Order: sequence, then C-alpha cells, then structure tokens
Amino acid sequence: MTLPSDQAMGADRDRLAGRLAAALNELTDVDLLLDRILSDARSLVAAEAGSVYLKSGEDALVLAICQNSYLERIVGGRGELPFLNYIIKLDRGSLAGYSVLEGEPLVVDNTLDIDPDAPYQHNTAIDNSTNYVSQAVMTLPLISAPGETLGAIQLINPLDEGFRVKRFTGEDLAAESFYVGIAAKALAKSMMFRSMAVRSVEVVSAHDPQETPAHAQRVACVATELYEHWAARRSVPEGERLRILDMLPLAAMLHDVGKMSVPTAVLTKPGRLDLRERALMEAHVLIGARLYRKARTPLDRLTFQVILDHHERWDGQGYPGWVDIDTGQPLPGRAGPGGRVQGKRGGEISIYGRILAVADVFDALVSRKTYKDSFDESLSIQIMEQESGHHFDPEVVESLIARRNVLRKIQERFPDHLETSELAGEAPLSKAPVAYPAFKY
Ligand SMILES: [Fe+2]
Repeated sequence: MTLPSDQAMGADRDRLAGRLAAALNELTDVDLLLDRILSDARSLVAAEAGSVYLKSGEDALVLAICQNSYLERIVGGRGELPFLNYIIKLDRGSLAGYSVLEGEPLVVDNTLDIDPDAPYQHNTAIDNSTNYVSQAVMTLPLISAPGETLGAIQLINPLDEGFRVKRFTGEDLAAESFYVGIAAKALAKSMMFRSMAVRSVEVVSAHDPQETPAHAQRVACVATELYEHWAARRSVPEGERLRILDMLPLAAMLHDVGKMSVPTAVLTKPGRLDLRERALMEAHVLIGARLYRKARTPLDRLTFQVILDHHERWDGQGYPGWVDIDTGQPLPGRAGPGGRVQGKRGGEISIYGRILAVADVFDALVSRKTYKDSFDESLSIQIMEQESGHHFDPEVVESLIARRNVLRKIQERFPDHLETSELAGEAPLSKAPVAYPAFKY
C-alpha cells in the first residue's frame, strides 16, 4: 500500500471542503449550522477542539459554541455540558478579537510562546477552568460580506496519527479559509431568519410584557428538546428528524405571533377574562395561523401547524378545534352539540401542537407572571404529570420528565431579565453556548 502524496491529499481535501460547504445550504437553524460548521472545520484539519465566537453589538464577543473531543470523552458527551454565557470584550487583546478587527486569520503554533509584546494574548480563562491546554490555535474571521464580520472561528490542537499536537500548515490555512468563507455566508442567512422571528416576538412583547423574547426562546428550546426525545423513541428516520429539528426552533418561537392583534387591555388583564375577552384572546390562534396559511415553504407549513394546534388539548377540550380558519365556523360535519366546534383530540392534533402545548405551559409555570409567582421545577413537573392524558399527550410529558436536566439549563440560559434583544439573532438556542465543567484528573 502506498501513501497518497501531500499534493493528492491536498486536492482531496479541497474537494471535501467544497462538498462540506455546499451541504451547509441544507440548514437554516443557527444552532445546527454552528455545530455543523465547527465539526466540519475541525475535521478538515483534525483539530481536537474548536470554538466559535459571535459579535454581540460593537464591543463584545459571545462564545457561541465550543467542541472538544478530549473533554467530551471525559464528561460523557456534549449533551452533559452546562450552558455558559461567556462574553469577552471585542478588542485586539484576544486572538479572536484581533482576528475579527483585523479581518485576517491568525495562526499561533504555541500559545505559551506568544511574544509578550504582541498586541494579542491567549485568553486562558476557559483552559484554566477545564485543565485543558490550547496549544496550537488557528483563528479565522467569519466574514459574510465586505465589511461584515460575524465573529471568529477557532481551531485548536491539530493532531497527528499518534494523537500528538502538531503545527498547522499553509495547506491547512488555505482549506479552512475556503470553507469558512462559504460557511460565514450560510451563517449570516440563518441568523437573519432567527433575527426576523425575534423581531416578530418583540412586536408582540410591545403589547404584552409577558411575551418576552426570552420566553419565546425558552419555549423554542424546550420544544426542540421534546421533539428530539420523542422522535428518537418513535424511531423517526434521521433525515426527517434533522429536517424538523432544523425548522422547529423558528416555528416554535412564532407560536403566539397572532397576539399582536389582541388588545393590550385583554392581554395584560390580571383577573379572569369575560366571555368577550376570552374570544378576543383565543382569536390569536386563528389570526396567527392566517399569516402562514398560504404556505410557500416547509418552514411556513410547520409554523402554521404549530400556531394552529398549540392550544388544543389531548382530551378534545382545547381550541380552536375543527374550524374554518377564515370564518372560525365549524368545518362540515364538525359541529358538536349546540353548534359548538368539535375540538381536535389525541392524535388528531399534530405532534408539533402537542409538543408546543407542553413547552408553553411548562414555561408559564416555572416563570414569574403578573398573576402568579414562579413555581419551582418539581411542582411544575407535578402539575404537568397531573394533566398528562387530560391537557397533554402522555408521551410528550414523559419526554419532558426524561429531559428534566436540560430544562434547567434552558431556564438559566434565557432568564427573563436578560437583554435578549441584544443577542437576538446571534445567540444560539439549545445546543450552545457550552463550557466544560471543571474536573480533576
Ligand atoms: Fe398561545
């Protein structure tokens, strides 16, 4: 057997970088895309670790995602890692900041040997908290358009066949520059989608202070977790699972978009609603669904389903039920006693509606509202269990309980007081940012 020449390997890798970059177009979700971009970029240079920093405003960089095969082996997988809002100042003092502001890649063979007079230094905060040493670091700016830098990607510790840290080569830099150039454009597009969804939530928020972007983002995260668990249990094929996971966060964020047409006095009324007010409130489902009725894309279709079904109940007592969404009247053959609309029940409700119902009510329970204080997690779970088979799909409630640890992380990640509008289009939702817990050898 003969080993391929460096030149042949280089050509193979360029083709691989091209294929990987082209595949990024399949994704619209920021989290999935960041995860894919970082994994791909690491695989191109056999980097043991890596991270992506995204600009937040003009003067900060947020750690959006980090991966580290070595540490993941120790803690038992990426899913076990806690969330972290790790933010650094955007200036030339850090490797990422320097690369972003100069618009140039930066390759450091050994962070311990950086000239003390260099404008940048390696920030050891994360290394210190994990006992990991980022030795060789390649940092590339994520430039989506001339003058538009989203942040920076860092590739850490390329490994040779013996799993020893080696130096990055000129070919490594060329392959990464090509791949990252295309990845940055894909990332800008997905960030724009999320940003538009957050702006819509902010419009609703102007009418109803309860409907914060933080609430919408938490519901989106929880819904995504629930679907992931439910789909794995049901053995949904991986392609279909990924397709839904790519769209569900955005669709879920928009579940209450119809509230922008409900009078503020009704939305913010602390006491019980009278019949007329209740009708106005319940109309948010049909108003929202109408926005997505003329679905042009799979994302539109999913959003339509999420909005239309998120107040249905497993026992058939929810709303709007089997209605014509234009008139609000029962569909043919769907009028119940007294001409009332029949509610959808059980499996008649789309799984996305069943999941949203659980995610939305759970978040309302654990959050502080004008009409109630927040309930602790155990009490909230207990209430959800009591409603299993009545309000909620029992299988989805089981998924909620199974993913209990992640729910807590989501609450920490998006507290109501956090200025989420600042981070809106930029901060990833469920999978990141992460940091590694301190551990002992
Ligand atoms: Fe709603």
